[in-house]
Amino acid sequence: DSFDFLFKIILIGDTDVGKTSVIQRFKTGSFSEKQQSTIGVDFIVRTLNIQGRKVKMQVWDTAGQERFRTITQSYYRSAHAAMITYDITRKSTFDSIPQWIQEMERYGAANVLLAIIGNKCDLESEREVKFNEACTLAQQKEIVVALETSAKEAQNVDQAFVVIAHELLAS
Ligand code: GTP
Repeated sequence: DSFDFLFKIILIGDTDVGKTSVIQRFKTGSFSEKQQSTIGVDFIVRTLNIQGRKVKMQVWDTAGQERFRTITQSYYRSAHAAMITYDITRKSTFDSIPQWIQEMERYGAANVLLAIIGNKCDLESEREVKFNEACTLAQQKEIVVALETSAKEAQNVDQAFVVIAHELLAS
């Protein structure tokens, strides 16, 4: 198949924040309550049409579990963008973001685009992190994209990838 641009996007973040679920929603439009933990690394492809340009999005899913870190790190280098994902109902996953940024700084490409993604925004009553806090952190770290998504309710998932594609096209 033909395309005008190929962008490699990697999802990183603590285990169980919903990285695989976000990617599944983006690829197939489906959601599973019983999504299994990722082992190592996996990827999907979806082509977006952005202002008449065919943008092939190759999306890499990584295991959040520490024991896979050596494998997952070896994929950071080739990513054009990293979606650093946390779970808005678990503060600890938000507090890990600075470490994930450091990982990307250490192992990623010099000009990699970073985004902060707060997933599970359908669980408003269990929220432990305000969107405002994510925006403040993003500003501090000079990260231009901060969004909340729900893989379950299909909120903002496609938009997140579209925003990233736009940013990469503009860079
Ligand atoms: P690892 O592969 O271990 O790193 O996990 P992960 O970050 O890929 O998380 P995964 O997609 O496996 O989802 C973990 C759990 O959260 C699963 O039970 C999902 O069904 C659930 N989940 C994922 N996204 C959402 C969401 O947007 N809302 C709600 N309510 N649950 C979600």
